[in-house]
Amino acid sequence: MVEGMTAQKPLSTRIAAITGASSGIGEATATRFAADGARVALLARRADRIDALAAQLGASALAVTTDVTDPAQLDAAAATVEAAFGPADLVVANAGIMHVAPFHEARRDEWQQMISLNIMGVLDTVRAFLPGLLAAADAGRPADLVIVSSLAARQYSPGFGVYAATKAAVTALAASLRVEFGGRGLRVTNVEPGVTDSELGERVGHDQWREMLSERKAQMNSLTATDIADAIADAVSRRAGVHIRELVVHPTTP
Ligand SMILES: NC(=O)c1ccc[n+]([C@@H]2O[C@H](COP(=O)([O-])OP(=O)(O)OC[C@H]3O[C@@H](n4cnc5c(N)ncnc54)[C@H](OP(=O)(O)O)[C@@H]3O)[C@@H](O)[C@H]2O)c1
Repeated sequence: MVEGMTAQKPLSTRIAAITGASSGIGEATATRFAADGARVALLARRADRIDALAAQLGASALAVTTDVTDPAQLDAAAATVEAAFGPADLVVANAGIMHVAPFHEARRDEWQQMISLNIMGVLDTVRAFLPGLLAAADAGRPADLVIVSSLAARQYSPGFGVYAATKAAVTALAASLRVEFGGRGLRVTNVEPGVTDSELGERVGHDQWREMLSERKAQMNSLTATDIADAIADAVSRRAGVHIRELVVHPTTP
């Protein structure tokens, strides 16, 4: 490097919006994007968590309290991000919930929660942020939509049926949107993490299954949320003509 020049950080031109940024993979991704120079909007319901993270990340971060199951809140969030930083050109639809239970128990309230958040929440996140993403792509700038699905979309286990179905839906959505918008330069990347340390398992509504999963996880070689964040950050840092369309991330050993 020429003396006096400073290296540009890989995401220094980017404006990111990340749903589910209050914990786990979303929090780690926001932290990594900020370290890589992006301005980052943190979307989640727990205002105390995203306010604290924004304070930690500094002026390049903005907390936007948002329930992604409410389309109007997502529209308001996209407008807030645009007013503060400009339209987001790097959107991570990450917020999700997992319930696990024997199918015959028909826990319809939990099915509904997963469908509302894991499918409708992703659809509305894309809808709310798509104009900004396409504007960036049309202007020849990098534009990324990252959808956080799960390995559960293609690896099946008893009790995970509805969660798996919601994740298979967004895996298919990502592939379809890539075909629809790839020609305009929008990269749509599907992320399928394996078991990752986060708060996800703590929210499983079924007491016995929650405990069973927690015991099973303690014996596994889990990934960290930072492992997933690093994979995402690497993919979206490629030059605009390169698209790593799927990230399937496993621990090396089961
Ligand atoms: N951990 C794993 O093993 C694993 C594996 C594969 C895929 N995934 C996927 O990774 C994504 C992130 O999960 P995680 O593992 O990081 O779990 P997590 O720590 O529980 O994070 C979930 C995030 O979603 C947010 N969220 C939940 N309901 C929301 C709502 N209505 N509106 C806005 N945000 C909402 C939560 O924030 P608030 O509660 O503050 O709103 C939280 O920030 C999920 O889509 C999950 O399915 C996780």
